[in-house]
Amino acid sequence: MKFASSMPHDAARQHVNGSARYVDDIPIPNGTLHLAFGLSSVAAGTITSVDLSAVRAAHGVHLVIEARDLPFANDVSPSAHDEPLLANATVHYAGQPIFLVVAESHHDARRAARLAKIKIVEIPAILTIQQALTADSRFEDGPRIYAKGDIYQALPKAKNRLSGSINVGGQEHFYLEGQAALAMPGDNDDMVVHSSTQHPTEIQHKVAEALNISQHAVRIEVRRMGGGFGGKESQGNALAVACAVAASITGHPCKMRYDRDDDFIITGKRHDCRVDYRVGFNALGQVEALDFTHYFRCGWAQDLSLPVADRAMLHADNAYNLPNVQITSHRLKTNTQSATAFRGFGGPQGMIGIERVMDHIAHELDMDPVEVRKINYYPEMPAQGKVQRPAMTPYKMEVTDFILGKMTTTLLESSDYSERKAAVARWNTDNLLLKRGIAFSPVKFGISFTLTHLNQAGALVQIYSDGSVLINHGGTEMGQGLFQKVAQVAARSLGVAQSSIRASATDTSKVPNTSATAASSGTDLNGMAVQAACKTLQNRLQSHLANVYGCPSDAILFEGSAVIGPNFRLPWDEAVKSAYEARISLSATGFYKTPDIAWDRIKGQGRPFLYFAYGAAVTEVVIDTLTGENRILRCDILHDCGSSLNPALDIGQIEGGFVQGAGWLTTEELVWDSQGHLKTHAPSTYKIPACSDRPEIFNVSLWEGANPEQTIYRSKAVGEPPFMHGISAYLALSNAVSACGSNYPDLQAPATTEEIFQAIKRAQEHAR
Ligand code: MTE
Ligand code: MOS
Repeated sequence: MKFASSMPHDAARQHVNGSARYVDDIPIPNGTLHLAFGLSSVAAGTITSVDLSAVRAAHGVHLVIEARDLPFANDVSPSAHDEPLLANATVHYAGQPIFLVVAESHHDARRAARLAKIKIVEIPAILTIQQALTADSRFEDGPRIYAKGDIYQALPKAKNRLSGSINVGGQEHFYLEGQAALAMPGDNDDMVVHSSTQHPTEIQHKVAEALNISQHAVRIEVRRMGGGFGGKESQGNALAVACAVAASITGHPCKMRYDRDDDFIITGKRHDCRVDYRVGFNALGQVEALDFTHYFRCGWAQDLSLPVADRAMLHADNAYNLPNVQITSHRLKTNTQSATAFRGFGGPQGMIGIERVMDHIAHELDMDPVEVRKINYYPEMPAQGKVQRPAMTPYKMEVTDFILGKMTTTLLESSDYSERKAAVARWNTDNLLLKRGIAFSPVKFGISFTLTHLNQAGALVQIYSDGSVLINHGGTEMGQGLFQKVAQVAARSLGVAQSSIRASATDTSKVPNTSATAASSGTDLNGMAVQAACKTLQNRLQSHLANVYGCPSDAILFEGSAVIGPNFRLPWDEAVKSAYEARISLSATGFYKTPDIAWDRIKGQGRPFLYFAYGAAVTEVVIDTLTGENRILRCDILHDCGSSLNPALDIGQIEGGFVQGAGWLTTEELVWDSQGHLKTHAPSTYKIPACSDRPEIFNVSLWEGANPEQTIYRSKAVGEPPFMHGISAYLALSNAVSACGSNYPDLQAPATTEEIFQAIKRAQEHAR
């Protein structure tokens, strides 16, 4: 029986008709107050005087809070306690919150916040990678280095050598629902916070610290987010803590939401970076030695930058077996927004480095870039017919599940790669002004949190006496379809109809000590925890019915909304009713921890991942050489979701991931001026892909194959890996530019219209 079932997202209807409720839609009690931050207008300096009299006197203002008014902890950092909610004496970026206005309406609060007179003695801001290196401004004492083999020996010996550098831009999350929180004070110091967060437990901890109360007095509820993409792992802390503090002081419910510009200016984004490379390779294109240096611009506070930069290092190899490799990673501290998690969590930045190297080698040797990639692939495992030792990643994890060789063959065929490549070449000879480009890129993405203890999840499953089932788990819904997938797991485990299952909002008082819904592991972890709880309940039902009907309990099955024994068959709801009347407990918790993983991030060794998710893409583009304007004409993706729990949702993740990844590397450009002000803080100046930017032809298919690891029904995580298929769009643009001259295009990212235009100019000059 095939269970995979393409049910729509459980809230698809509400999303479309507008009835899905987000934090800002929750009806608020009378007397609710609204919050806004007053922000620093300079990037670095010392506060010498703060005059808030006009703010206090403004219409509707109840209260103004400065750092010194905070009752307890002034800290919203998810990691190093280096991120005050409100600036204390010094400011570290333009946009840093300095004070908090509590007013009768959202607009009153925002208007009043602008009336402050704050004097700041500026100090020279460290804004760029170069400035940070010169000032040795960094997190951690020095660069982190992971290595395998010996590049110092192998690099000089290599027959061919190349070096290069790619600047990779950051990215604004642009979740459609901005950051928001609503705090409701209760009796006995209790605080309930509705937050748009991927990490309810962390919000709970931060609120408890800010109010100096125990965690059991704080309850966080998350019904859904209108997108998170990593931007709500830690960036919601400030709003939730601000609301809780103001609610605690005033006794009123307090609500805060960032306007879009504030969201851009205050919150962290994807890390921009520079990747330098030196590569040695033989005449076949095989890499013999590779030296990468990553420069990550982390912003003013540590946030999640260390694990993000680690994950970039862990994906510097992508799909390739590198005999000698060294990755050096600089985590630079700058006076800009504190860069944070964003889909892929550093993986995309690591991966684009080596994909660029593969293309550079192919250009140098005049080889097909796919051939260069294939010759460097990890060996397929298990190796057919011969005994072979698995290859090792640069961090000494064995790659035992590699399937990209087979996947590549399938995709090249289904996408007609060879014929289309020839057609692109013909087009480029025949056409002077419009040039086409085509590119292939693979993805191998490690699944698990690298911080091992985060790989755990809990669940609470309750069966009511009418047979309906309410599931709760630590995962949060942000549009990715987690709730539907986990509900499908529950239905399948209990053998009941999907309509019998409902998922409640995520709630820290139902399941404690949860991890962020992140690292794509939401379904892997929470699906298993829910399944464990279902098993416990089934065991209880089995032993009860075995007693009643005098049969062995392991002969009792759950199927088709019925409980079936050798000598009886009961509809599910009757079996439940019978258990209830016999006073059997019908609620159970479940727990799961990922097995077999271990990781030493200082040494850079171990098995950080339970398995890898794979995929590959072929993308074709056209550019206008007079303007640099461009379009994605076609994209074919073959992606590995193991045994997919829900192919429709998985394909949605793959399509969305590609489009978001392509946006990162093409139109989405963040610009700071020389004073450190972010100039692109609205959709008018920051261009995310629109519907019309998606590929004109878009073919996504799923690889048929089960996860060799024992994941939930042998599925694989899908949230982040497809994002990196966007790299094929960047490579295709680079390929199109290379039709304008003979040099390697040296295209930088994002490959905006302007950047493409400049690259064309460079290519044409070279051709002369
Ligand atoms: N899909 C939608 N629609 N909205 C999102 O915010 N976030 C992505 C991905 N897909 C996101 C999304 C990120 S960054 C992650 S880590 C995963 O979903 C998280 O969910 P999962 O672990 O359940 O896959
Ligand atoms: Mo995703 S960046 O792990 O929230």
